[in-house]
Amino acid sequence: MFDAPGQLWWQHAVIYQVYPRSFQDTNNDGIGDLNGVLQRLDYLSETLGVDAIWLSPFYPSPDADFGYDITDFKAVDPRLGTLETFDALLSEIHARRMKLIIDLIVTYTSDQHPWFVEARRSRQSAKRDWYMWASPKQSGAPPNNWQSAFGGSGWELDATTGQYYYHSFTKHQPDLNWRNPEVREAMLDVARFWLARGVDGFRIDAAHWILKDPDLRDNPPNTAPRSPVARALGEYDSQLHLYDKGHSDCHEVFRAYRQLIDSYSTADQPRFAVGEIHIFDWQEWVKFYGERLDELHMPYNFGLVGAAWQPEVVRGVVEGMERALPAGAWGNYVLGNHDEPRLASRLGAEQARLATLLLLTLRGTPTLYYGDEIGMLNGEFTPDQIRDPWGKNNPLFGRDPARTPMQWDASPNGGFCAEGVAAWLPANPDYATRNVEAQLADPRSMLNFTRHLLRLRQNSRTLQQGAYRTLEGAPQGCYAYYRTTAGERLVVALNFNGREQVLPLPSGGRVLISTHMDRGGRTERELRLRAHEGCLIALG
Ligand code: GLC
Ligand code: CA
Repeated sequence: MFDAPGQLWWQHAVIYQVYPRSFQDTNNDGIGDLNGVLQRLDYLSETLGVDAIWLSPFYPSPDADFGYDITDFKAVDPRLGTLETFDALLSEIHARRMKLIIDLIVTYTSDQHPWFVEARRSRQSAKRDWYMWASPKQSGAPPNNWQSAFGGSGWELDATTGQYYYHSFTKHQPDLNWRNPEVREAMLDVARFWLARGVDGFRIDAAHWILKDPDLRDNPPNTAPRSPVARALGEYDSQLHLYDKGHSDCHEVFRAYRQLIDSYSTADQPRFAVGEIHIFDWQEWVKFYGERLDELHMPYNFGLVGAAWQPEVVRGVVEGMERALPAGAWGNYVLGNHDEPRLASRLGAEQARLATLLLLTLRGTPTLYYGDEIGMLNGEFTPDQIRDPWGKNNPLFGRDPARTPMQWDASPNGGFCAEGVAAWLPANPDYATRNVEAQLADPRSMLNFTRHLLRLRQNSRTLQQGAYRTLEGAPQGCYAYYRTTAGERLVVALNFNGREQVLPLPSGGRVLISTHMDRGGRTERELRLRAHEGCLIALG
């Protein structure tokens, strides 16, 4: 809107996702709070060196889905703070020249939200049509075969009024009816509220689910061969989700959000929205930018999260996105978030470094997930410790493992909360050795690697804005690419393998960083990559 591609803050920023419940508890109730985020801002801005924070939900919530079931979109959960704490946090973030984007939940409310409490009182309620209601079939069965993404029917019978309401996720999250103009106005007003408070933008939650087929048609069966993971999803994966999400009318809603967000943008403060869109067909995915780039500034690109960790597959994701991006659109990459297993558990410690080098050297905005910078691993739980509703339904998909308290130091609870306090999820016991303090003292730690890389990116226009091109001819098990501007040619070379490989470069160069943190200086045209090593090289 104001500058050439790559120059707006959200295009060159590195975003860091804070899951506030698990970041820092400051009043010893075992739940992380906004004051805790405030206390850790120096870590984020100076020690680590990220540019923007995505704050996961902090709104009042009965915690059926830990903050994603909301009873008041314009308030702060008293356990996490107050609107004053929020304002203080935002102004401290801005004082550090950082940006803040917040989670904007648009698809559903809590079943305790006053709107829903009112809606379920009677079929004549003024708020009835704010949600999706439908009468049972003659047999009493739900209106159609749509399923909740967390398992079971998406329809819940409301005994008082004898109709079903629809919930894409838990039954405590009734979906809003976005076809009702009052809903639309009320929800846009929520965005206005936070924009007026000064946030720099939004991560629009479950954006893809916002509108469904108005005729409530049954989803057809999914006859394609299914992967073991998909099979574990059970019933949900037995259907093609043609009608229960992603209705094309949602594009009109995103245009409305975009107009609103743009109307609050100034040259000094361009605002921005990234949407949670789980689509892996690039042609479909790019539609969320809008035909005239007038919808989401970016749909999240989850291609690397689910990708088999092989060089050809990873290369395919990068080239797929590069090719699909319409002129003027800006891409992005993600390796993990609060819904996915931990990066270091998925790939192992060595490949987690390689993945971080990849994430922070590709063309497109990177989002880091809290704790991945110290290689936090999945937490392990006894059945009675499971908190996540999805995990309770299907332990295979439990998301608690990626939500354990941030590991700050070796003190009890990893410094997340005081000794003797029970954290809402127990800290991973490896906090005793894997923590920020210990890794700061170790020059070759994952944390120091990530810090160093973040500084390289922050000071490099080539990494932030330069063109991407695959370097052909990389040896088996390797993937390499160029990042270039008129004056500079960088190469990123990644060895996915446990064996040494030799990569021919077009010229010698200077090693700017290695994942092993033990080399610099010149390299000849033959770059020797050790097992699991990745390097960033300035040619010439
Ligand atoms: C989004 C959130 C996820 C939540 C779901 C339903 O996908 O990322 O954490 O469980 O919405 O509320
Ligand atoms: Ca607290």
